[in-house]
Amino acid sequence: MTTSRRHYHITTFGCQMNKADSERMAGILEDMGFEWSEDPNQADVILYNTCTIRDNAEQKVYSYLGRQAKRKHEQPNLTLIVAGCVAQQEGEALLRRVPELDLVMGPQHANRLQDLLQQVFDGNQVVATEPIHIIEDITKPRRDSKVTAWVNVIYGCNERCTYCVVPNVRGVEQSRTPEAIRAEMEELGRQGYKEVTLLGQNIDAYGRDLPGVTPEGRHQHTLTDLLYYVHDVPGVERIRFATSHPRYFTERLIRACAELPKVCEHFHIPFQSGDNEVLKRMARGYTHEKYRRIIKTIREYMPDAAISADAIVGFPGETEEQFENTLKLVEDIGFDQLNTAAYSPRPGTPAAVWDNQLSEEVKSDRLQRLNHLVATIAAERSQRYMGRTEEVLVEDQNPKDKTQVMGRTHTNRLTFFTGDINELKGKLVKVRISEVRAFSLTGEPVELTYSPL
Ligand code: SAH
Ligand code: SF4
Ligand code: F3S
Repeated sequence: MTTSRRHYHITTFGCQMNKADSERMAGILEDMGFEWSEDPNQADVILYNTCTIRDNAEQKVYSYLGRQAKRKHEQPNLTLIVAGCVAQQEGEALLRRVPELDLVMGPQHANRLQDLLQQVFDGNQVVATEPIHIIEDITKPRRDSKVTAWVNVIYGCNERCTYCVVPNVRGVEQSRTPEAIRAEMEELGRQGYKEVTLLGQNIDAYGRDLPGVTPEGRHQHTLTDLLYYVHDVPGVERIRFATSHPRYFTERLIRACAELPKVCEHFHIPFQSGDNEVLKRMARGYTHEKYRRIIKTIREYMPDAAISADAIVGFPGETEEQFENTLKLVEDIGFDQLNTAAYSPRPGTPAAVWDNQLSEEVKSDRLQRLNHLVATIAAERSQRYMGRTEEVLVEDQNPKDKTQVMGRTHTNRLTFFTGDINELKGKLVKVRISEVRAFSLTGEPVELTYSPL
């Protein structure tokens, strides 16, 4: 620690959990006196917060890392950190692959960044990947947005889907207490945040590890109870949550979403496959019939609800017919959005060593066919917005057209309209939709429904 002005840069890969972790780590670095540098080449501390969900995500990390490792030879004071899921998966092996690294830290250690960096500045090369009890974050995250914020409610995952690395790299489920979650949301409300997304890899598992059982034998703390507990936090106008697991999704939760006005009518419930035999080999714990029933119930309570999901094509042994069952489910449900991926064998997962792997050609052909269907269906789903007036929470300027601002509807559709970001940021505006595309809308403002001060 020699220079007076020290700068840091964080590059984040992967899911919302990683983005939330990065915001907390940035907060810790700022507390330590570091300043953000947009250009990684000007930074004294470089942190890669990494993802290993598929092989291409992991390879991307190595190519970024290679460039900075080279720079370290000219600039020995550079501190190089790999955090997140690749760090957890590879641990010490990463040091052998990239000896220039100063710190390798798993996701459970994100809140310990200051301690770990101190050890580095004391001259050590540090690997922190042992499982720990995640300590409450006492620092202030440096959040990317001033309007929408993520709040972790449960870390880790206790499922064992046969394709997935997450349980290996994120560890066992650890719920935060309802009080800690509410306190964080109240602070966000005071700071002017309008929307909170509650986060968990399997958010329906929330509370299972907390003490307390009701007289009926139900866990006292469930996601549903949490929504009732936090929905009146002053200032927070919208509440979202992700990711839901069909195995645990309850009608009680659906009812709460319908009842609580701040809870947005958008549900992200990955189904992964539309075929029961494949679902069984994935160890997902539900059938496509059950999935359909969940969506039907959601639509009974909230006919306009948006439904999104994740799906995998080319799982080991998936036949053409089984893949067509996925296409059929997508067509029948009518998703507003779908994240699709070709199956990627991951180290340490059961399906990776099965001998019925499919060829890359088959996987990419199926992926293309599914993506084509998704775009068609999303475009159809967008039609329903035409001419309607939707409430949009303004988040930012449209990067492609500075005369426009952009935000999201309750149902999470990205919406553009003409306006000045300085005046509209963080406001809820009624917008009449005049143009629809598969994944976004354009409209004209009708009136300002909410003005913060
Ligand atoms: N917890 C969530 C999602 C976790 S990972 C759930 O249970 O649904 C995000 C998505 O990545 C998954 O939904 C899945 O569609 C995809 N994914 C996970 N492992 C994968 C693999 N090995 N190959 C391809 N896609 C994968
Ligand atoms: Fe992975 Fe399954 Fe856990 Fe989701 S529920 S994170 S897919 S193991
Ligand atoms: Fe990737 Fe880790 Fe998230 S593997 S998807 S960053 S939990």
